[in-house]
Amino acid sequence: MKAIHHTAYGNPTKVLTFADAPTPSPGPTDVLVRVHAAAANAGDWHVIRGTPFMARFAFGLFTPKHKVAGSEFAGVVEAVGANVSRARVGDRVFGDVSLTGMGAFAEYVRAPQEVIARIPEHVTFEQAAALPFAAITALQGLRDVGKIQRGMKVLINGASGGVGSMMVQLAAYFGAEVTAVCSGRNAEYVRGLGAHHVIDYTTTDFANDLGRYDLIMDVAAYRPFTRIIPALTNTGTYVFTGGGTGTMLKVMVFGGLYSKKGGRSVKFFMARANAADFDLIADLARQGAIHTHIERKWPLHQAGEAVAYVEQGRTRGKVVLTVA
Ligand SMILES: NC(=O)c1ccc[n+]([C@@H]2O[C@H](COP(=O)([O-])OP(=O)(O)OC[C@H]3O[C@@H](n4cnc5c(N)ncnc54)[C@H](OP(=O)(O)O)[C@@H]3O)[C@@H](O)[C@H]2O)c1
Repeated sequence: MKAIHHTAYGNPTKVLTFADAPTPSPGPTDVLVRVHAAAANAGDWHVIRGTPFMARFAFGLFTPKHKVAGSEFAGVVEAVGANVSRARVGDRVFGDVSLTGMGAFAEYVRAPQEVIARIPEHVTFEQAAALPFAAITALQGLRDVGKIQRGMKVLINGASGGVGSMMVQLAAYFGAEVTAVCSGRNAEYVRGLGAHHVIDYTTTDFANDLGRYDLIMDVAAYRPFTRIIPALTNTGTYVFTGGGTGTMLKVMVFGGLYSKKGGRSVKFFMARANAADFDLIADLARQGAIHTHIERKWPLHQAGEAVAYVEQGRTRGKVVLTVA
């Protein structure tokens, strides 16, 4: 099969190469999927660059451990392991192998059955490929970490990117009053996703909305969280989801100190795909409660360009690779 090889850390346009690779074979609880579309996301460029350095403890200290790049995909099941119960040959499925060996930027990918789900009938391969990383993160961040409730005032900073777009839709679905923070050019886009209020961060600082938000989901955390927490209500929650490594480390080390019993809390989380959440996001897509906006597409052999584009941090929605 053809695949995008990742044999060194660095610039995605330089270190990713398009070449032949052995077709993977599924283990007892895996499926083998003929990939029709894949998606590039922020996690991909971190893994391809090998940054932040601590990520290399998971992905290979000096050279990448997983030789074929890519995490999100959609396609058709070609073969199943002996103990697979979640899919059959011929099913249209989507999945995320970011924590289970990578390999989605290829004509075939092997995936454990827990990190796939069936694609709803009206959803295309390209839309489905762009779903899992963003939707699982948004779902687990809002529901499990942010403890979202109907009527809460929720602010999403970084609302127009892959994860932010899903958070806006899901927060509205959960019945929250949603404030989306993005640049002015994306204001109409996030309103269309369900945001009730929009703040243009290039002209207005939401941190000055003192005591306003029950929940702040920070997907673009590029400044100290201590500057932002005054915008929370007295019992509000700040959730670091993505952004700068410096802010992330401060939240991990000092966040607990700011979390008072019965008062404000500061949290950090890493999303982890599981079968139940995969089925839930497939169902939400089936209902039309969530959908993906695809900003740009590249063919598989130009995966490096797609990942480099995502790395610029300006994607509206998602970027997709067409494979077959
Ligand atoms: N915790 C987890 O488990 C988890 C899981 C997935 C992803 N993440 C992290 O979440 C972050 C976002 O991922 P993503 O896939 O959504 O990235 P993305 O699609 O690349 O985000 C791009 C968006 O960010 C917006 N943005 C850039 N700078 C901003 C700023 N200063 N203020 C507000 N918005 C800004 C841009 O909007 P404008 O063009 O309008 O500026 C653009 O629409 C990444 O850091 C990623 O590593 C974390």
